[in-house]
Amino acid sequence: MALTGKVALITGGVKNLGAQCAIELAGVGANLALHYHSAGGKKDAATLETTLKEKNPSIKVAFYQGDLTSAGAVTKLFQDVVRDFGHVDIVVNTIGKVLKKPITEISEEEYDTMFAVNSKTAFFVLKEAAAHVTDGGKIISIVTALLGAFTGYYTSYAGSKAPVEHFTRGVCKELQSRRISVNNVAPGPMDTPFFYPQESPEAVEYHKSNGMGNRLTMVEDIAPIIRFLCTDGAWITGQTIFANGGYTTR
Ligand SMILES: NC(=O)c1ccc[n+]([C@@H]2O[C@H](COP(=O)([O-])OP(=O)(O)OC[C@H]3O[C@@H](n4cnc5c(N)ncnc54)[C@H](OP(=O)(O)O)[C@@H]3O)[C@@H](O)[C@H]2O)c1
Repeated sequence: MALTGKVALITGGVKNLGAQCAIELAGVGANLALHYHSAGGKKDAATLETTLKEKNPSIKVAFYQGDLTSAGAVTKLFQDVVRDFGHVDIVVNTIGKVLKKPITEISEEEYDTMFAVNSKTAFFVLKEAAAHVTDGGKIISIVTALLGAFTGYYTSYAGSKAPVEHFTRGVCKELQSRRISVNNVAPGPMDTPFFYPQESPEAVEYHKSNGMGNRLTMVEDIAPIIRFLCTDGAWITGQTIFANGGYTTR
């Protein structure tokens, strides 16, 4: 197995896209350090642990809880993972928060929260990943298809994910000599509970109609791309890979 003995830290790693990435990386032998945020994640973690053990009984899996919007919390997460596993080879950051509103209705508090979750967290995860990931490692941040589209109402969401592209470009150059590849993956509107609360039924149909086969992106479309970047795709670095069934294609 390509990742036997490797340690992958996945933030937001117990449900939806993060959980699917965990299952995918378990399938190629990676040990898994899985972070979750809300207290409800404990139940998701228990369910996922059973699935992972069935998929690959020989891997080590551990779980970590925390709000990662402070630099100190991100530092502690990495310290805990290194204490438990000895090293970190792969980091996949799936943390995100969406807001769909006209800019005239977005408060300062909402702006600060969006940038704390989508930009600040991504920055400090990259910082700690740069400090801890072993030579030849992989660092992947999840952004959004909206970085490739002109769309109203997601201004604070796309706007707070946009800096991650440049963080990634800078970090990829800084880590090139250590053969660490650093990339973003940008899914299209994805069929998870993250997507639905802010969308009307008509909007859901509109999003579907922009994708190949008239459907949303599925987590199963994205997780194999993450695996590829962690294995055979190691030569790719500094990129944002748009995977959205044509959603952003003109
Ligand atoms: N679903 C879509 O339509 C879509 C499309 C394109 C890109 N994306 C991106 O894909 C990624 C995964 O999304 P998903 O659909 O799989 O939904 P998701 O499971 O809800 O992923 C978001 C994760 O971020 C965590 N999070 C939020 N605030 C946090 C904080 N302060 N500290 C630490 N973690 C925090 C969430 O934990 P809690 O739920 O416990 O707060 C959750 O685990 C996100 O970055 C999202 O922006 C999603």
